[in-house]
Amino acid sequence: MTGIGLVGAGKWGGNWLRTLAGLSDVSLRWCCDLNEGLLAKVREQFPQVPTTTSFDDMIRDPATEGIVIASIAPTHFPLAKKALEAGKHVMVEKPMTLTTVDAIELNRIASRNNRVLMVGHLMEYHPAIPAIRKLIQDGELGDVMRIESRRTNHGTLRSDENVWWSFAPHDISIAVRLMGDWPEAVQCEGQCIVQPNIADVVGGTLRFPGNRIARIDVSWHDPAKVRELKVYGTKKWVVFDDALPWERKVLIHDRGFEVNPSAPPAQRITMRQGGTKPLVLEQCEPLVIEASHFAQCIRTNSRPISDGHAGAAVVSVLEYGQRSLETGREVAIPKPEFNGPTRKAA
Ligand SMILES: NC(=O)c1ccc[n+]([C@@H]2O[C@H](COP(=O)([O-])OP(=O)(O)OC[C@H]3O[C@@H](n4cnc5c(N)ncnc54)[C@H](O)[C@@H]3O)[C@@H](O)[C@H]2O)c1
Repeated sequence: MTGIGLVGAGKWGGNWLRTLAGLSDVSLRWCCDLNEGLLAKVREQFPQVPTTTSFDDMIRDPATEGIVIASIAPTHFPLAKKALEAGKHVMVEKPMTLTTVDAIELNRIASRNNRVLMVGHLMEYHPAIPAIRKLIQDGELGDVMRIESRRTNHGTLRSDENVWWSFAPHDISIAVRLMGDWPEAVQCEGQCIVQPNIADVVGGTLRFPGNRIARIDVSWHDPAKVRELKVYGTKKWVVFDDALPWERKVLIHDRGFEVNPSAPPAQRITMRQGGTKPLVLEQCEPLVIEASHFAQCIRTNSRPISDGHAGAAVVSVLEYGQRSLETGREVAIPKPEFNGPTRKAA
């Protein structure tokens, strides 16, 4: 049994609570929130889980090995730092921190204390993403030249972060994972429709080496909940629509263009319009996979798939994207530098 404490029992934290409480190899030691009303509801639903408004209670408990931080973004850095310094393993929700400097600092503390540092890039644990990655690694798609993702809904308007910081971490982590490369530059444009200075619609373009692009569109200003990813390879195209049933979530399209430089000009480029086939996926809730992975990394002292370095990388793209949003210009993204030992991958 791995002892885990949860901080944040809000809308998303509630999902963590149900998930952790349902894992047979996890003992949910604590649920911590500042909101007493929420904790009363937690006690009704999960009478076996002790609740507290004190983060210190939780980290003082020696049987609490790991802490899941699902409170609001500005609290991620101070709470994660305190937990790591107390010798706990940490899984912190996205965005890992509000600055790259803070994210690197968390990596340093985790490395110094030999603790697991994981970030909640949920899509990394969606069965579709490793399956699409395998298609790319097996060469089935050819060279991936373009990724397009759309993440929209008519959802909660946050006042402590804009939609770029709230939604795009998922799309940035997917783009970096599937491109297998570091983006050289980011350009964002956005609109603050409802609240002054808090963009509720943002379009971002990540430029990767070799004329490759990831286009990310995120919005709270859309009647439809859209979770769509398109991956354009030189051989095949893949469309992942998370709103569809498992059997049709990921479709592989044998489409593209054939270029024959030695043919006469009129026949040099031909369209390839082959068939479409679904990709068979393991049917499992991503949060269950993510939560089990955290517990397993604690038990085996291993590096998570979405480790602290991945978290810092995404924060850095978010930060430079924010700069672009404010200046209207494309901004180069230096790669974050890490020092210290790295642990073996899970
Ligand atoms: N991975 C995902 O797919 C995903 C999805 C949604 C939200 N999130 C992330 O999860 C986090 C929480 O989101 P939410 O929608 O549940 O927010 P929320 O506002 O509904 O809940 C946040 C909770 O944190 C509590 N809190 C704030 N400061 C605290 C502190 N210092 N100590 C203890 N509790 C504290 C609040 O009382 C509140 O109950 C955010 O970082 C968000 O970006 C991740």
